[in-house]
Amino acid sequence: MTEDFQRFRGTPGYIASGPLVDAVNCAIALGRPLLLKGEPGTGKTVLARHVADGLGMKMLSWHVKSTTKGADGLYVYDTVQRLNDSRFGTGDVSDIRRYIRLGPLGQAFASAERVVLLIDEVDKADLEFPNDLLRELDEMRFSILETSEEVVAKERPVVLITSNNEKELPDAFLRRCVFHFIEFPDVGLMRQIVDVHHPNLDAKLLDQVLIKFYWLREQNELRKKPSTSELVDWISALLRAGMTHRQLEAHIPFLGTLLKKEQDVDALRDYDERKGKYPARWADLGPRFNQ
Ligand SMILES: Nc1ncnc2c1ncn2[C@@H]1O[C@H](COP(=O)(O)OP(=O)(O)OP(=O)(O)O)[C@@H](O)[C@H]1O
Ligand SMILES: [Mg+2]
Repeated sequence: MTEDFQRFRGTPGYIASGPLVDAVNCAIALGRPLLLKGEPGTGKTVLARHVADGLGMKMLSWHVKSTTKGADGLYVYDTVQRLNDSRFGTGDVSDIRRYIRLGPLGQAFASAERVVLLIDEVDKADLEFPNDLLRELDEMRFSILETSEEVVAKERPVVLITSNNEKELPDAFLRRCVFHFIEFPDVGLMRQIVDVHHPNLDAKLLDQVLIKFYWLREQNELRKKPSTSELVDWISALLRAGMTHRQLEAHIPFLGTLLKKEQDVDALRDYDERKGKYPARWADLGPRFNQ
């Protein structure tokens, strides 16, 4: 592999699988946005910060909302400020450039150095949003109509786009991206992720925690399975309460950190009342965990 292809290698604060590292480097090498999908809480958003740290670049973020328009990312013309200035005579209103505010995409293009740009939750906005960005993301340039200036990226930014699958993205948009689905971490990867957030956790406690966590995720009745971020929070709660691995063997304390739907909490309470058994050893879980 050439030097240019192999650039991002992960950071101590983010455990990236091999395929994820490859996808990041592929997007960098092609100069195309990387579209990331995956269950909520699997580290899509925080990856951008770590890619920026790993590459020693600045990061810009654009958090998309239902009302966000594609053009907002390029620039906005602050007519209100200009009107105020003309009314109260506080500035030179003839220079329109003073009222052009670059959005995150505009700033990423205008930056003298290569930056990482996070476009978070692209599927929150309407379908026109990704379509409106096609040309700019391809050509990495746009014109400011009011001033007839053109902003051209000196260095193609490293663009990371996240989606939670709320809407299908248009094919024309997908064609321009490198795609990666963040698989839910297996036990080995999860041990490393936990170690980032809770270093030197007691090995027996960690085993109990992971056995309960993966068992919960295997319960098909659950409407929302707990994710990595919930696991990290759950361990924080257990540590603060000074729980030992023994106390975890027969029950799951602080359920509210793991389950976020009342039906799921109720289902587990029922299970408790019916004296349902909790697994305490890896052997109690299915063959997937015991190879
Ligand atoms: N691979 C990982 N390495 C280290 N920490 C991780 C990893 N994956 C997830 N986390 C932890 O999980 C938390 C949630 O991550 P993040 O907010 O990026 O998830 P997300 O995929 O963007 O979720 P959502 O779809 O809900 O926005 C992070 O704060 C981080 O602490
Ligand atoms: Mg996110």
